Amino acid sequence: MPENTLTITDNRTGKTYTVPIEDGTIRAMTLRQIKTGPEDFGLMTFDPAFMNTASCRSSITFIDGDLGILRYRGYPIEVLAERCTYLEVAYLLFFGELPTAAELKNWVHDITHHTMLHETTKKYMEGFRYDSHPMVMFVSTIAALSSVYPDARQVHDAENRLLQIKRLLGKAPSIAAMSYRHNVGFPYVYPDNDLSYTENFMNMLWRMVEPKYVANPVLSKALDILFILHADHEQNCGTNAMRVIGSSQADPYSALAGAAAALYGPLHGAANEAVLRMLEQIGSPANVPGFLRRVKAGEERLMGFGHRVYKNYDPRCRIIKRTADEVFQVTPRNPLLDVALELERIALQDEYFISRKLYPNVDFYSGLIYRAMNLPASMFTVMFAVPRTCGWVAQWMELVADQEQKISRPRQIYIGSPTRDYLPMAAREAAPAAVGA
Ligand code: CMC
Repeated sequence: MPENTLTITDNRTGKTYTVPIEDGTIRAMTLRQIKTGPEDFGLMTFDPAFMNTASCRSSITFIDGDLGILRYRGYPIEVLAERCTYLEVAYLLFFGELPTAAELKNWVHDITHHTMLHETTKKYMEGFRYDSHPMVMFVSTIAALSSVYPDARQVHDAENRLLQIKRLLGKAPSIAAMSYRHNVGFPYVYPDNDLSYTENFMNMLWRMVEPKYVANPVLSKALDILFILHADHEQNCGTNAMRVIGSSQADPYSALAGAAAALYGPLHGAANEAVLRMLEQIGSPANVPGFLRRVKAGEERLMGFGHRVYKNYDPRCRIIKRTADEVFQVTPRNPLLDVALELERIALQDEYFISRKLYPNVDFYSGLIYRAMNLPASMFTVMFAVPRTCGWVAQWMELVADQEQKISRPRQIYIGSPTRDYLPMAAREAAPAAVGA
């Protein structure tokens, strides 16, 4: 019997099957041969929420959730956050290697020259209600870009794909900044090509009447670090949405809008917004024990804690905490930081959180930095979506090139009614399930 195999006995039939084990997995399709008879469809796996299913092979991001390790293309996140710029990391994620000086120069030039938006984009933005959530404006405007660039549908043309990813990377901050300015009622600011990626983003967010925007170097550095930490995180909910939509060969703007929509949920990228609202609700460190009692009683959820993959301290959280200290040197210290520190201190000693391996995640402290930069909580998820754009696109590029991928299409276990006869309207009764179905 070859060593890397699994033997399965079907107790319904007494038959035995041997299936190969490859990379610690068995192929779900190998189970299809396990049948009770010729009419049987064959065995499937049932895995709601993909708790134990690998959906692709990827060489982009590695996470060891038990050890709290995160690497992009083999490089530890701590090293990249300390030594690189965001655009350097984006290059690494796309092309697999860190750029040489010449490659980086061209790359930065190309991205910078794609930051301008077509003037019609401004008009879509103006159509939103003044108080629309900026993440909703971000999602919709990214989707609308596919109307500006219909050539993006040529997903099998490598050169065209590269052009679209440069556009997406260049335009994501411009759209994000517009969605903020729309909320506060300020005129949109055009990009400034002299500035770095994060400085230019700050320029588009905050420039008022000054002839040239000058970014605070501590804040632009902090933003660069936050962008690196948020750049990719393998097959999370948003990335999975990107891949699922991309698998139908939809254009990358449509796929990315879907990924960003997934990020907007409070269990995913909108957790950073929810954390700030939670800290405000708790109000002071003295109220932390009472709040945690309610969490343990199931009445509240400790936002910014817990992760599907990390069962150890999220390595990004450690870097964010250090970055927050640096930011608070140049901005007023937010008193909610004390509430966050107290929450973390008590939770990490509490049996409820220890036994469930619940640790702070990337969203726990990031909002405090954005708040120190004067951004409203509603912008926090947009601040996550801008840098995640490169991860989504890198994963999409990998998907498109992967010969093994096909259109995503899970199976289901049908639990509905068997065939029944049509009921004429007069014979129907109100179904109890119709209310709130
Ligand atoms: N507060 C209180 N209890 C929690 C929490 C939390 N934040 N997270 C998990 N638990 C409990 C949960 O109730 C369950 O307990 P029990 O076994 O008694 O039923 C146990 O821990 C396992 O949790 P789960 O819900 O089965 O875990 P999951 O892998 O399905 O969920 C999660 C992961 C991130 C959705 C969840 O931990 C959560 O809701 N956290 C708060 C929201 C948050 O911070 N999300 C950001 C995630 S990281 C960045 C990102 O993805 O964008």
